[in-house]
Amino acid sequence: MPHPLPSSTWPSAATAAQSALFSSLHLGALELCTRTWIPAMVPWRATEEGLVTPQVLDWYERFARGKPGAIVVEATGIRDVPSGPLLRIGHERFVPGLRELVEVVRRASEGETRLFLQIIDFLRIRRRVSAERFLGEFLGLREEHFAALRDLGRAVDDEASARSALLALSSEELARVLSPAEHRELTHGARETVNDLHLPHVAELPRVLPTLFASAARRARDAGFDGVELHYAHAYTMASFLSRRNERNDGYGGSARARVRLPLEVLAAVRAAVGSDFAVGARILSDEIIDGGSRLEEALFYARELAAQGLDFLSLSRGGKFEDATQPKVGEAAYPYTGTSGHECMPTVHVSPGTPFGRNLAHAAAIRAHLRSTGLSTPIVAAGGIGTFDLAESALASGACDVVGMARASLADPDWSAKVRAGAGAEVRRCKYTNYCEALDQRHKQVTCQLWDRAHDAPLAPGTRVARSVDSRRRLTAPPWERTSAEADPRG
Ligand SMILES: Cc1cc2nc3c(=O)[nH]c(=O)nc-3n(C[C@H](O)[C@H](O)[C@H](O)COP(=O)(O)O)c2cc1C
Ligand code: SF4
Repeated sequence: MPHPLPSSTWPSAATAAQSALFSSLHLGALELCTRTWIPAMVPWRATEEGLVTPQVLDWYERFARGKPGAIVVEATGIRDVPSGPLLRIGHERFVPGLRELVEVVRRASEGETRLFLQIIDFLRIRRRVSAERFLGEFLGLREEHFAALRDLGRAVDDEASARSALLALSSEELARVLSPAEHRELTHGARETVNDLHLPHVAELPRVLPTLFASAARRARDAGFDGVELHYAHAYTMASFLSRRNERNDGYGGSARARVRLPLEVLAAVRAAVGSDFAVGARILSDEIIDGGSRLEEALFYARELAAQGLDFLSLSRGGKFEDATQPKVGEAAYPYTGTSGHECMPTVHVSPGTPFGRNLAHAAAIRAHLRSTGLSTPIVAAGGIGTFDLAESALASGACDVVGMARASLADPDWSAKVRAGAGAEVRRCKYTNYCEALDQRHKQVTCQLWDRAHDAPLAPGTRVARSVDSRRRLTAPPWERTSAEADPRG
């Protein structure tokens, strides 16, 4: 049975004005007007070259009209390499488009919303190929393969006979002949990891990443952002350094202290590049969820190390790893938001055991308490199934977090903040937490919310045009807020 959406009492405008959620907060040298925060969400609207498009501008303009305390712009690549329609900031040519994005958000929020750019590095991942192609072409044959085939009674003396024999093996036999990494590549597609020290570009990550992140952060500052969020979470390079599965033996893996070394070096380089009046935060996992992965225990240590080095905010997420992703179809790449860890990252109403609503707050509370007990006041941003005023307010009141992240709730209704603040919370178009949006992200399709079209069946006024997805079936931004109730009585 799906979990029913929690009921909520929505505050009057006067009550909202007195609430913790709509109170201000210092974040380093910055002030957030309110504690509502839209975490990073990739909408698949950049050009193939990673440039800002009019659709990217529309996407962020629409969020900014709701005047949340902060918006984190989607994961943006720090390298100057092709990576599909994901934003990039690996070169100066990306700065003008990003500057326009900043200006659009400033205008639409009337200067109220602080804007951060999430900056990311990721390793190569390839689509899964058919067994015929993998065993017949791609697999590099080694002496061990020949020996294992002979052990199974196959007569093999050259490459052609070995490949034919491999193709005739059962899946159990293949699991015995191939190494675990090769078998994973066969079943899930090739994927580089930070442990691949035999690959020169993986071995050199600790040498190149501090400069790449620092240059990206400096460009973000030049473009006018208020700060950057270092993406140290989910399935990507920096989170893989923090993972307990990081087995590097070059001083950057093995122990927790060695695993946090590169994230600290990146933070130091970024800080040196942008100065102290530009916010530098990070997003980490409070639990990787996967077998053999980092747990809360490590997250406490990483949070303390990063905070002690002057992080301006710490945003928390959970899961979202490749290691337990479900098997992709042939022709598709593994997607880290499937599998158990993926379901923890974007919990749906079908999650079990436990509730999806405020699912990550216990871990956030533990990390925040740990920082406070060591004298560190770094603001904590929590997210995960928070979509009601009551839950947001209680998360703040209980000390689980200082700022409330609402990703899908804001996607469903970008006016969430404006409505609740105005005493019109009953008009919020509430997220159903069934992940239609995530399924689009998985297929690299333009992300939209399934409620936008339903909520806007009414015919449009003559001459009005709504931007639609490439298949022209879905609107690309949320419908406007058509106020149905009078502004609430300010007496509450
Ligand atoms: C379509 C979509 C794209 C996302 N892209 C990112 C991303 O670029 N970076 C990131 O850290 N998290 C990303 N997330 C995860 C969200 O930031 C958030 O952590 C997650 O959805 C749980 O919060 P929620 O329950 O408020 O939605 C994405 C989520 C969705 C639904
Ligand atoms: S598509 Fe579904 S899960 Fe995603 S924001 Fe809309 S209602 Fe929420």
